[in-house]
Amino acid sequence: MLYIGIDLGTSAVKLLLMDEEGRIQNELSREYPLEFPQPGWSQQAPEDWKNAVLEGIPALLNGFDKSQVAGIGAGGQMHGLVVLDENDQVIRPAILWNDGRTAAEVDYLNETIGREKLSALTANIAFAGFTAPKILWMRKNEPENFARIRKIMLPKDYINYVLTGVHCTDYSDASGMLLLDVKNKCWSREMLDICGITEDQMPRLFESYEAVGTLRPEIAQELGLSEKVVVCAGAGDNAAAAVGTGTVGEGGCNISLGTSGTLFISSDHFGVDPHNALHAFAHADGHYHLMGCMLSAASCNKWWMDEILGSQDYAGAQKDITDDKLGCNHVYFLPYLMGERSPINDTNARSVFVGMTMDTSRADMTQAVLEGVAFAIRDSFEVARSLGLDIRRSMICGGGAKSPLWKKIMANVLNVELTTPVSEQGPGMGGAMLAMVACGAYPSVQAVCAKLVQTADAVTPDPEIAGRYEERYRQFSKLYPALKGVFPQLL
Ligand code: XUL
Repeated sequence: MLYIGIDLGTSAVKLLLMDEEGRIQNELSREYPLEFPQPGWSQQAPEDWKNAVLEGIPALLNGFDKSQVAGIGAGGQMHGLVVLDENDQVIRPAILWNDGRTAAEVDYLNETIGREKLSALTANIAFAGFTAPKILWMRKNEPENFARIRKIMLPKDYINYVLTGVHCTDYSDASGMLLLDVKNKCWSREMLDICGITEDQMPRLFESYEAVGTLRPEIAQELGLSEKVVVCAGAGDNAAAAVGTGTVGEGGCNISLGTSGTLFISSDHFGVDPHNALHAFAHADGHYHLMGCMLSAASCNKWWMDEILGSQDYAGAQKDITDDKLGCNHVYFLPYLMGERSPINDTNARSVFVGMTMDTSRADMTQAVLEGVAFAIRDSFEVARSLGLDIRRSMICGGGAKSPLWKKIMANVLNVELTTPVSEQGPGMGGAMLAMVACGAYPSVQAVCAKLVQTADAVTPDPEIAGRYEERYRQFSKLYPALKGVFPQLL
């Protein structure tokens, strides 16, 4: 049988078709626009996601026996606020995970309601990208829209709704709303009250690997698929990527270098970072994870290449950055193009190049961009280490993981061995694998990971380079504290 994995990303949806043995039969991606209506704001039309998926699936299946498709599973960009009215029509563009408009609401939640209470109710504190502060923002700034809300959901849940007609979400994605009691896997009544919403406005909760329904007849017809095709609840893209890279169970680690950059640590047990710098979320395998998320990772390099250098030759821009240059760069880059989430939680933070001289080259600045992202991931690593988590190796996936240089920089900055899976399409693979479990092809998420995840190569840190980076990281760590007070004055 065949399974469709959907990775509903920020710049595009990536679709893949996989057989039960884990062989990818076909892949394609469809881009959609991202709006930045004001600096630091970020939104997208859910209808664009829907069109991209409904046009993409028939193209993905072109030339394949459609009757073989048994299941569909999605991993989606997390936290985005999707609101539907009583006719299930989208009320306004979705406010995305990297949107920073909710600084006042985050302050209200963290300071007035209080971090301790939020953490007790949800295992997390408020960050600008999380869904609850966006609901409060809408209540204050768009009361007419707020009054029309019949259902609240997350991006991939909207796709699942389009496919099945079921209003659903899964625990991993719901964890990032700041409305879920993560430990007990139920909506927090108190948090819903704080946001002025009721439980019947929330979608039904599922484990990621559970079936939420089958295709609506009209959608089955449009896609040329059977009405029996099963749609599973799917997961937030990071949990789905973790499944796609086999990061399940106790002590697994995955780094995703996508538009965002994340450090994902899986665990069999529920646990909270006492300082709430790392998110404590449910995992798609039925257990839990801790996660640090930086808002701009591969997107920093994309911005630098596409917008500033005006070049698509990513490999060419990196070819002169040889081993002897690693850990010796005099230029630093703070990767805060959209403000920052983990661990500094600062919507006012901005990107900066520091340290240029007359002999600074374009390659030095390109290197600084790649290193700045690695140093910012290391900030989350340091939090994990302070919790006693001893991470020696990790999987790595996402578009940035296609660059051998970036992987080498990451391995040496973090001083961990980094392994790449055969496909860097973590969330799409994970989505298809969750669908296999929902269809009964595998008994559990652990079992499908054990059978299907294959690794391609591993990068081991070089003691000399890692040593040089140690010193560079110390310098990098001084920059944000020095500039922190200046950023709000620049706005
Ligand atoms: C995770 C997060 C991002 C998005 C990117 O908390 O906000 O990784 O899920 O799609």
